[in-house]
Amino acid sequence: MKLTGKTALVTGGNRGIGLATVRALAEAGAEVHFTARSAPNLTAARRDLGETQATGHLANMTDRIAMATLLDQGFDILVNNAAVIAPIGRILDIPAEDWATSIDINLTSAFHATQRVLAHMVARGGGTIVNISSGAAHRPQEGWSAYCAGKAGLAMLTRSIHLEYGAQGIRIFGFAPGVVDTDMQVAIRASGINPVSKLPRESLAPASEPARAIAWLCTPAADPLAGQELDVRNPELRAASGLPPLP
Ligand SMILES: NC(=O)c1ccc[n+]([C@@H]2O[C@H](COP(=O)([O-])OP(=O)(O)OC[C@H]3O[C@@H](n4cnc5c(N)ncnc54)[C@H](OP(=O)(O)O)[C@@H]3O)[C@@H](O)[C@H]2O)c1
Repeated sequence: MKLTGKTALVTGGNRGIGLATVRALAEAGAEVHFTARSAPNLTAARRDLGETQATGHLANMTDRIAMATLLDQGFDILVNNAAVIAPIGRILDIPAEDWATSIDINLTSAFHATQRVLAHMVARGGGTIVNISSGAAHRPQEGWSAYCAGKAGLAMLTRSIHLEYGAQGIRIFGFAPGVVDTDMQVAIRASGINPVSKLPRESLAPASEPARAIAWLCTPAADPLAGQELDVRNPELRAASGLPPLP
């Protein structure tokens, strides 16, 4: 995998799948930037990254001005990774404001970041956007109405951008990372509300697996898959990106 000469931005790159993606892109030779939304989180990410070269930026996804300033640097690759699972609860049990906050972070902010970076990519003649999707984009889960609606909207945004800008060199992918051992799954297990919350931690995949596939999607080898919603469990994608077959 060679991404030498490419610049990349990973949102929510300070932990979990985002942090693993920062590592994978840097290992592939890209100049990697990532966001974190607090100074302690940025410091922790720098410590976790060790020798890995990457530049962290303080920015909340919902802060349009901070994000625009960052995105106007222009990037060849954007990974829309930042998201929240909250609020977890059946519809009559959650505050409407929390539902709206979830949609703002998981969908509207991803739209804003994409719109901003797209202008630069189109002007330069191309670029790659990976929207981190989920099985929840296509199947409802009890207690996750906000998360499911946000991810379903993001999946449609992926298709809309492919339709409108695919011919102008914009390669966009939706990518479902599987069930991955991150803090998001800690919150899900603590809720105990649906079948996903009952999955034992030992059954979850390490974040390095989806990160490897995300880095592969950023290479020309993935061109034929542009515009699609992909899943880390897809055998062909696993083989092409160098992941072991699933049992
Ligand atoms: N883990 C799974 O099994 C799984 C399955 C399907 C899809 N996904 C998707 O994979 C992506 C990464 O998930 P993860 O499991 O790595 O989650 P995670 O461990 O909870 O990390 C989420 C990241 O997003 C950041 N973030 C959240 N809200 C933000 C905001 N308003 N502005 C900036 N950053 C924000 C977090 O920053 P802070 O550290 O500041 O909170 C953190 O860096 C998400 O899109 C998630 O929906 C995960």
